[in-house]
Amino acid sequence: MNTKLVEIMEEDADTEAARKILEESGNIIKKGGLVAFPTETVYGLGGDALNPESSRKIYAAKGRPSDNPLIVHICQWEDIYKIASKIPKNAKKLADAFWPGPLTMILNKSDAVPKETTGGLDTVAIRMPGHKTALEFIRYSGGYIAAPSANTSGRPSPTLAKYVKEDLDGKIEMILDGGQVGIGLESTIVDLTEQEPMILRPGYITKEMLEKVLGSVSVDKTILDSNSKQAPKAPGMKYRHYAPKADLTIISGKQDPVVKRINELTKDSQSKGLKVGIIGTDATIANYYGDSVKSAGNRQEEETIARELYRILREFDDEDISVIYSESFDDSGIGQAIMNRLLKAAGHHVETV
Ligand code: TXA
Ligand code: MG
Repeated sequence: MNTKLVEIMEEDADTEAARKILEESGNIIKKGGLVAFPTETVYGLGGDALNPESSRKIYAAKGRPSDNPLIVHICQWEDIYKIASKIPKNAKKLADAFWPGPLTMILNKSDAVPKETTGGLDTVAIRMPGHKTALEFIRYSGGYIAAPSANTSGRPSPTLAKYVKEDLDGKIEMILDGGQVGIGLESTIVDLTEQEPMILRPGYITKEMLEKVLGSVSVDKTILDSNSKQAPKAPGMKYRHYAPKADLTIISGKQDPVVKRINELTKDSQSKGLKVGIIGTDATIANYYGDSVKSAGNRQEEETIARELYRILREFDDEDISVIYSESFDDSGIGQAIMNRLLKAAGHHVETV
């Protein structure tokens, strides 16, 4: 299959030229094909959520286990009534506060949603993305887009269209290239099917932000405790996701001892002939001696780190780096999501100095 790559920037999403492209992409979806598209979090791999055949194709293109359910993306609140069987008050409250935006809600599904889309579950994940191109694409596609992140299963989620192409070229009909995404980490997932709302995956919308709207919110135990034997409630969270090819170790502690320890480890690895990558920050990268030293951004603005993390992990893959040492990041605000992804990428390998 020939994969068509078309540029369409968010600010141009309502031009005549964009309309033609969106119409074309919508027609691909209506015929059961697949289109990757930008959102505010990461690129998604879209298919018709109500067509079981489209969902099967998504799993095949990604090489994803079929027990790992897909998120259904909508472009207007009313559309939720077709795919959810019960809509608690909390769902409307969250939608009013955060949609369109980087928040996914788990609700009980209706019969309109095939089990192929929900990985066999009776619940469905629903999100309205905060990205104009994404919303228009969903509208032109008939309103219900099943979309996991547009990466090969097990690789970091794509934050640029070139990474979608790297993973999915020849496997899908079209890629809408909207440039680099804004947030860079996947949406927060909150489960509303139990008595108390529970976060299944941390993201840009934090526990504190959710609690302002809902009152008390809990967090899936498996996110906080890496040794937990319990299965995470979001099936996808059990995979060693977001993983680079290299072995990644996080070094945690105060800035100066961390820099010193990373340089020691680097020297040691290099003496064994290993190629070393380092993840530092703007304030520290000048002090490192790795083969490839990258700044994740600026600690005063943790959004910058969220945006660059997956790109850095992919670049290390391209550079054939075999060992990565990373600084640790503050575990508050968006830092919770950053550390959740980084710990997964590291297989929870942390050294404290
Ligand atoms: O930001 C995002 O959410 C991106 C963009 C494209 O929207 N999408 C995304 O999809 O990250 P994906 O498939 O890579 O991750 C979806 C996660 C998986 O961990 C999956 O197990 C979980 O959501 N999930 C989906 N449906 C679920 C359900 N009914 N119950 C529990 N977890 C569910
Ligand atoms: Mg994913």
